[in-house]
Amino acid sequence: KRPAGAPDKSLARPVTKVGIVGAGLMASQLALLFARRLQVPVVLTDIDQERVDKGVGYVHAELDKLLSKGRLSPDATNRLKALVTGSLDKAAFADADFVIEAVFEEMSVKQTVFAQVEEHVSDECILATNTSSLSVSEMASKLKHPERVVGFHFFNPVAVLPLLEIVRGSATDDAALATAFAVGKSLKKSCVLVKDAPAFVVNRLLTRFLGEVIGAVDEGTPFEVADRALEPLGLPMSPLVLLQLVGPAVALHVAETMHRAFPDRFGVSENMRRFVEAGKTAVWTWDAQGNQTVDPEVAALWQ
Ligand code: 3HC
Repeated sequence: KRPAGAPDKSLARPVTKVGIVGAGLMASQLALLFARRLQVPVVLTDIDQERVDKGVGYVHAELDKLLSKGRLSPDATNRLKALVTGSLDKAAFADADFVIEAVFEEMSVKQTVFAQVEEHVSDECILATNTSSLSVSEMASKLKHPERVVGFHFFNPVAVLPLLEIVRGSATDDAALATAFAVGKSLKKSCVLVKDAPAFVVNRLLTRFLGEVIGAVDEGTPFEVADRALEPLGLPMSPLVLLQLVGPAVALHVAETMHRAFPDRFGVSENMRRFVEAGKTAVWTWDAQGNQTVDPEVAALWQ
């Protein structure tokens, strides 16, 4: 059954090579997923060789884990490893049909990246963005071919979570959207078409959810109490562990986007800002026995 709002699938273009801009946590998970599910060459790029090597190294290590769990044969592991390569040069995208960016969550950075990619790819190559919250229409607006841009928003961990938010920008054409749905289906994701609104659907809810837990701590509830209060709901992970998985810096960016869009409904915690500026990435720490305690340096940041 065609997902609600998806165009006729006959409009979808074949995808025989994928480019990924960024080699960080999301980007390298995407490289693994695209290689496994589409079985096509995947090229990762980033701003320096160390990042590129780290991204490719992550993919290879994850493939080795699948091999050791008996989920991949040695042949398949080697084939997939050979499919994923890294480059510092976006010219490596020249024959790609689908390029996705997963770089820093800032409009100007993403616009620059897309403009650079556009110099190397064919006019039909789809440009997808894994943005969590930014406007897909605005991101496309400076390009020669804005009709090829789609939002393609995954959830962490990418290998496990089935949802994929697909976003139609104001200029996106049916062929780009149909290709996005066809790729999403090949990736075995549950695709939903969402409006190009700040933080789409899921992060809008997630930002409110995490924001209220942080708000409770801001008002004096201890971290331990606020985080464990929701345990009876049976969530797969507690809110502050989820914050660590998402990354506090990303969560703060999304909160700021929501605050700009809906200042009456979304605030930004100053404590949260200090937490990110201090370079901290987790509220909880675990000792070797798995005992969980709040990082005292983080607790000291809260005023
Ligand atoms: N990468 C790859 N695979 C992972 C993983 C990771 N980081 N973490 C867990 N897995 C896999 C495990 O290997 C295991 O696979 P297997 O069953 O095939 O061996 C499977 O997931 C289950 O893992 P565990 O048994 O260790 O643990 P759980 O059952 O507790 O599941 C979880 C872990 C899937 C991470 C679960 O806790 C969960 O769903 N948490 C909520 C995550 C969530 O809400 N993410 C959305 C964040 S929002 C977002 O990403 C959007 C962004 O824009 C901000």
